[in-house]
Amino acid sequence: MSTMRIFLITILFVVTATARWVKDLCPAGDAAPIFPANQTVLGLPTNKTLNFVTVGRGVQDYTCSRRTFVSNGTRANLYDVGCFLTGQSLIPTSQLAASLPALALENIRFPQIGAIPQLALEHQFVPNPAGGAGTFPQFLDPGTGFFVVLSVNASFPAPQSATAVPWLELAAIDGDFDFGTTAFRTDTVGGVAPPSRCQRGQTVSVPYAALYWFYI
Ligand SMILES: *[C@@H]1O[C@H](CO)[C@@H](O)[C@H](O)[C@H]1NC(C)=O
Ligand SMILES: *[C@@H]1O[C@H](CO)[C@@H](O)[C@H](O)[C@H]1NC(C)=O
Ligand SMILES: *[C@@H]1O[C@H](CO)[C@@H](O)[C@H](O)[C@H]1NC(C)=O
Ligand SMILES: *[C@@H]1O[C@H](CO)[C@@H](O)[C@H](O)[C@H]1NC(C)=O
Repeated sequence: MSTMRIFLITILFVVTATARWVKDLCPAGDAAPIFPANQTVLGLPTNKTLNFVTVGRGVQDYTCSRRTFVSNGTRANLYDVGCFLTGQSLIPTSQLAASLPALALENIRFPQIGAIPQLALEHQFVPNPAGGAGTFPQFLDPGTGFFVVLSVNASFPAPQSATAVPWLELAAIDGDFDFGTTAFRTDTVGGVAPPSRCQRGQTVSVPYAALYWFYI
């Protein structure tokens, strides 16, 4: 093998081995989610740092099973909101963050049409990466193809649980852990399935928004 060929293979190996997800998202400073006072299941990791925080706007999908709606995954666009939170001191950052999902639900469309310059990540469900049953939440950077898949580590009913989907703690199980190894879905608005009985084959997509915090 020529020296040149060995050199090129070495370069290729190094590039492949070191390829990791990098995105220029705003650092979120000292912002942190404020969990409901009566919950004990969601725990901020003490030995991890906030990597970035986004507001997700999308839909909770449901299909009909035995005349009730059951979850059929989530689809959402996530927008970087770290820049709203850093460098301002007028409103405590965590309280400001908590007000963003309601604003997103009202002001951002889903799906959006055409290019979305502000888009940080796309959220959807994918088959179990371990090959078993079920589907799992995935967060994808459409620009690079890098993604992370997580599994729900803990769930707590939203304060407005009649209309808002639960708050979640998620743990990374597959993909690129440079996104974060622990994530939280908090401050949810909307997304709960209609309580009415459904017909076989019926589907519904319920608009929702939430904050997604990624810790690394
Ligand atoms: C937590 O507190 C809220 C508000 O007081 C209450 O509505 C809710 O039922 C409580 N949740 C649990 C799981 O105890
Ligand atoms: C962080 O703390 C958790 C428990 O709180 C522990 O399971 C984990 O191993 C720790 N990680 C590191 C990198 O120290
Ligand atoms: C949605 O329902 C279809 C049909 O039952 C199923 O194949 C698919 O895995 C479901 N997706 C999710 C994310 O649950
Ligand atoms: C999942 O939850 C367990 C116990 O509640 C905790 O020890 C662990 O650190 C959590 N994992 C992640 C990745 O947050």
